[in-house]
Amino acid sequence: MQGDDLAAIAEKHQGSRRKYCLRTCMSAGCMSSRADAIKKGLDAEVKAQGLEGEVEVRRVGCMGFCGLGPLVGLDGMKEREILFEHVTPEDAPAIIRAVQAKDHGLQVADPDHPFFSKQMRVVRANGGIIDPERIEDYVAANGYRALYHVLTDIRPAEVVEEITRSGLRGRGGAGFPTGLKWGTVAKSPGARKFVVCNGDEGDPGAYMDRSILESDPHLVLEGMAIAAYAVGADQGFLYVRAEYPLAISRLQTAIRQAKQLGLLGGGIFETPFTFNVDIRIGAGAFVCGEETALMASVEGRRGTPRPRPPFPAERGLWGCPTLINNVETFANIVPIINRGAAWYAGIGTERSKGTKVFALTGKVQNNGLIEVPMGITLRQIVEAKVKAVQTGGPSGGCIPAEYLDTSVDYESLTKLGSIMGSGGMVVMDDSTNMVEIARFYMDFCRDESCGKCIPCRAGTVQMFELLEKILSRKATARDIAMLEELCDLVKHTSLCGLGQTAPNPVLSTLRFFRNEYTELLQPEPAGECAASGQ
Ligand SMILES: Cc1cc2nc3c(=O)[nH]c(=O)nc-3n(C[C@H](O)[C@H](O)[C@H](O)COP(=O)(O)O)c2cc1C
Ligand code: SF4
Repeated sequence: MQGDDLAAIAEKHQGSRRKYCLRTCMSAGCMSSRADAIKKGLDAEVKAQGLEGEVEVRRVGCMGFCGLGPLVGLDGMKEREILFEHVTPEDAPAIIRAVQAKDHGLQVADPDHPFFSKQMRVVRANGGIIDPERIEDYVAANGYRALYHVLTDIRPAEVVEEITRSGLRGRGGAGFPTGLKWGTVAKSPGARKFVVCNGDEGDPGAYMDRSILESDPHLVLEGMAIAAYAVGADQGFLYVRAEYPLAISRLQTAIRQAKQLGLLGGGIFETPFTFNVDIRIGAGAFVCGEETALMASVEGRRGTPRPRPPFPAERGLWGCPTLINNVETFANIVPIINRGAAWYAGIGTERSKGTKVFALTGKVQNNGLIEVPMGITLRQIVEAKVKAVQTGGPSGGCIPAEYLDTSVDYESLTKLGSIMGSGGMVVMDDSTNMVEIARFYMDFCRDESCGKCIPCRAGTVQMFELLEKILSRKATARDIAMLEELCDLVKHTSLCGLGQTAPNPVLSTLRFFRNEYTELLQPEPAGECAASGQ
């Protein structure tokens, strides 16, 4: 396999394209609403009408506008693409009528809808456009060119420099500079090194990584291969939770196809570079997304965190230097290599570069996946009458409506007591009780605590019980003081990020919605002094 071979595959594939294309969303969301039956219906209708030479029915990944699914896009029309909403298998004849420019009577999305106009698709450029189960589709969309370029033209250290210059920060939550991490792994001595892609995605309401894996698996594989070349690794692991069967099967297909074309395995592009990838399936424990717990799980041990240092970059899998990045982080690598670090660094704010994918859920008009440049405001994203926006899942916080003009970047969200997190964004309106929200996340953390250290194991239970007491109107001001004390203790003494951040939803709701707590309190029993705690 050489660069010319990629061009030949792309050309042959382009030549097989039809005049019209019916892109049928077959990601997990639309599949749960019978998207496979819709595709079958469209295939049958195209055949019945003898339109096989003119119309292609293509399986694609998530188009983003999940709230309007199942979605079918029609390309090739004179004016512009038509996007059919809430499609059913019975709509197939009407959709074919639309192809023939006849009256179809179906519901279509407004292409000028702000949901589309504010987006900038870098990571999701192929999402909803290519068939994720056909490597030719990915190659025809310029796929594997970045890997070819890197392997044949650039030294590993220069790749690390390019990623550093881009300003990319890890999308798994903490926003650690990616180039710095790659450089540390590259410099760490070790006979063997590993690359791990973290696809555990356990935050309630988050499904960005699932969507990327389902829609464009080769993008992540290519990013991992480039990373492996840059740091000197020959083996990669993709850690994906068992609840993502479609993502897992598409990744299996992608790995098989890439191996068949010589894009994974030994001597890639006839260079000495060897890279293999295996999938590891997680059992759905939130804590296994924490990098040291994830590594224990990959090694076949129980997934519990261990103290850091040593960091995985120095001592990771089986004691070897290991690069761990999130799915979306790896998905940013190919665009950076193809379009250059300077282009990437030109998007976003001074310290938060590029775009971010968010999963919008809750009391919002348009729920679904959006990719927006960093620095956009929360108001531009949610454009709804809201009370608060929760970012960062169980490690994050609730940002009240008066801060909706805050720039979405790592530093600004942290200043408000929340975090960017991995990209789950839950919108709340006046019907939401903020103490209940705090209880929901504490219940989650209490459940997901691995129990290895006492502050988190016992503290999350005690904080949950105090929230229950407040909600059942049995608490006094002293319980709130106790809750705050526990938040401080658990935050500062827990072993891993789960415990260290578990108090955040409580702290942020206490900061911005304290009245909702105090309204539920009982007066202190007579004769006792709350202030002195006696
Ligand atoms: C409790 C907990 C759960 C986590 N879950 C995930 C996860 O599902 N996916 C992820 O990429 N990172 C997760 N992280 C962060 C990882 O430990 C790690 O920082 C990240 O994978 C590094 O990749 P990045 O630099 O590309 O962000 C979690 C951290 C903690 C403390
Ligand atoms: S903080 Fe919680 S999840 Fe993390 S090691 Fe301690 S008990 Fe386990």
